[in-house]
Amino acid sequence: MAESARIKGSFKSLNVSSPPQAQEIQAIFDRIAPQYDQLNNGLSLGLHWIWKQMAVKWSQARAGSICLDVCCGSGDVAQLLARQVGTTGKVYGVDFSSQQLAIAQARAPHLPITWIEGDALHLPFADQHFDAATMSYGLRNVVDISASLEEIHRVLKPGAKAAILDFNRPQSSQLRAFQQWYLDHFVVPTAQRLGLREEYAYISPSLDRFPTGSEQVDLALQVGFEKAVHYAIAGGMMGVLVAQT
Ligand SMILES: C[S@@+](CC[C@H](N)C(=O)[O-])C[C@H]1O[C@@H](n2cnc3c(N)ncnc32)[C@H](O)[C@@H]1O
Repeated sequence: MAESARIKGSFKSLNVSSPPQAQEIQAIFDRIAPQYDQLNNGLSLGLHWIWKQMAVKWSQARAGSICLDVCCGSGDVAQLLARQVGTTGKVYGVDFSSQQLAIAQARAPHLPITWIEGDALHLPFADQHFDAATMSYGLRNVVDISASLEEIHRVLKPGAKAAILDFNRPQSSQLRAFQQWYLDHFVVPTAQRLGLREEYAYISPSLDRFPTGSEQVDLALQVGFEKAVHYAIAGGMMGVLVAQT
């Protein structure tokens, strides 16, 4: 597993090109909500559950913890968190797509999860409220990555961790080529069969704009996290940023 880490104080400035408008992102996720879970399972061959479970583990959510899942979508990670925190804990899932939240709510009515329609850039919580936070495939989609990290930092208690899972560009040129082939020849055509070509063709350019693991570490430190490490997983095709307040 490759790893990039920095300690506070070594930030270098980044030039991250601007992503699409928030309303476009919201509309995409509302539109794909009915097929989203089926596509995720098919396109990752079910492996996304393993990567999501790793993020939950690295967030250090425990029995009794109060946890936040930012950009929760249809609620996979919030569900995993809820199982981790048990009946004495509490989980909040926040997303700005009402369609994704409707599915999340229907999938897990028995779990101690509160679903909130809200903006990751203006989280509706007091400072230092949570014991742990997760974000899965959300950071690449927010319009302001630094502001999003800053909000997560703000709502975490001192010493708490955030684990942020997303795509990553592998360092190996062969794996990079495989990843691009997979996106172009498997992901996009599969989505096309469900009438969602444009929505999934968006992954590749969003990944090109996305900061590398070490750039994510720098951004986390810049917004105030004390420590940050980026773990490249799945041959470097995915990554988890673990940041501690
Ligand atoms: C790729 S989905 C990931 C969903 C889920 N976490 C998962 O791993 O399956 C990205 C989610 O981020 C949400 N999102 C993007 N920007 C957001 C923002 N500023 N505030 C709240 N949600 C946002 C979208 O609505 C979408 O549900």
